[in-house]
Amino acid sequence: MPATNRQLILHSRPKGLLAPGDLQLTETPLPELQDGQALARVKYLSIDPTMRVWMAADTYLPAVAIGEVMRAGGFAEIVESRHPDYKKGDRVTGLTGLQDYVIVDSSAKHFFQKVPKIPFVSDTVFLGVLGMNGVTAFFGMEIAQPKKGETLVVSAAAGATGSIAGQIGKIRGCRVVGIAGTDEKCNWLTKDLRFDAAINYKHPDWKEKLAAATPNGIDIDFENVGGEIMQEVLNRMNLHGRVVVCGLISGYTKENVGMASLGTILVKRLRVEGFIILDYAPRFMEAATQLGQWKMFGKIKDRETIVEGLEKAPDAINMLFTGGNIGKLIVKV
Ligand SMILES: NC(=O)c1ccc[n+]([C@@H]2O[C@H](COP(=O)([O-])OP(=O)(O)OC[C@H]3O[C@@H](n4cnc5c(N)ncnc54)[C@H](OP(=O)(O)O)[C@@H]3O)[C@@H](O)[C@H]2O)c1
Repeated sequence: MPATNRQLILHSRPKGLLAPGDLQLTETPLPELQDGQALARVKYLSIDPTMRVWMAADTYLPAVAIGEVMRAGGFAEIVESRHPDYKKGDRVTGLTGLQDYVIVDSSAKHFFQKVPKIPFVSDTVFLGVLGMNGVTAFFGMEIAQPKKGETLVVSAAAGATGSIAGQIGKIRGCRVVGIAGTDEKCNWLTKDLRFDAAINYKHPDWKEKLAAATPNGIDIDFENVGGEIMQEVLNRMNLHGRVVVCGLISGYTKENVGMASLGTILVKRLRVEGFIILDYAPRFMEAATQLGQWKMFGKIKDRETIVEGLEKAPDAINMLFTGGNIGKLIVKV
């Protein structure tokens, strides 16, 4: 049994990207386990854009308080248990926080869930394609109601959520166009993931390229970014198109979220629906089962960017906002 626990504590609310010291690494004594508790060693941390939101303000979850362990999803293994439902070696996912060890109990606030050991499958899939990002793509695409032959555009397309959403679009028979920030990402989308086209929004002529890639207009926008990218996609939407607002990452490090024009939504009679994946928790197993089958049969491919070391988590969070990851971003503790 270790005596201490390394934790990243929220010390100050970031302005823009995280600055050194916004999250501070501390070492605290591990409390003695009580009846009804288990101790789990955190092995992998899910690095998600929403963490930057949690640092800033109350939204769909309360902001992380100054002085608290930074909230984060993670994968952990039980190392000691005084809880009737957990034994040593069990594996869980949930809100472990940015730390080496987490106390697992029966309270619902950490969303702990046991996960199986699947032969030949890495544990990290439970944070990515079979975890929060996969199910987010799955239910976001359910909201989109894609039909064969329709054109789907996905922004942040080479990220954890966008890459799966686009591939579900292909499975549903759509023409799929991704928007991403490097040529390497765009090549991955078209060559490995079978996207019909991918546009690097950092090229000066990206709007013309988007127009050329969507000759019949756009029927579905799977929106991960917001701001100028979202507005340009809306400009090309067909009448009565659907906009699934999954995320608005371009605004998370700014004071104001770049809004798309309500006028475009009105004139094009668009249906716009936002969603928060926690609302779908009762149906996660249904989504994970389907995603697992697609992955097993090679219909969905996933990729990970792994950063080593708990102390690197603040840098990893910033990578999301500078485009440093391809696929799911994970910290290996
Ligand atoms: N609604 C929900 O419940 C829910 C759940 C999970 C995730 N989400 C949302 O889904 C989106 C993607 O999340 P993820 O976890 O899958 O992250 P991710 O896509 O793996 O990583 C974020 C990516 O966003 C792109 N990006 C960052 N800043 C940008 C900007 N200003 N303009 C354009 N692109 C930018 C970067 O790629 P480039 O190199 O392409 O710029 C970066 O790699 C986020 O908006 C997130 O909040 C929502």
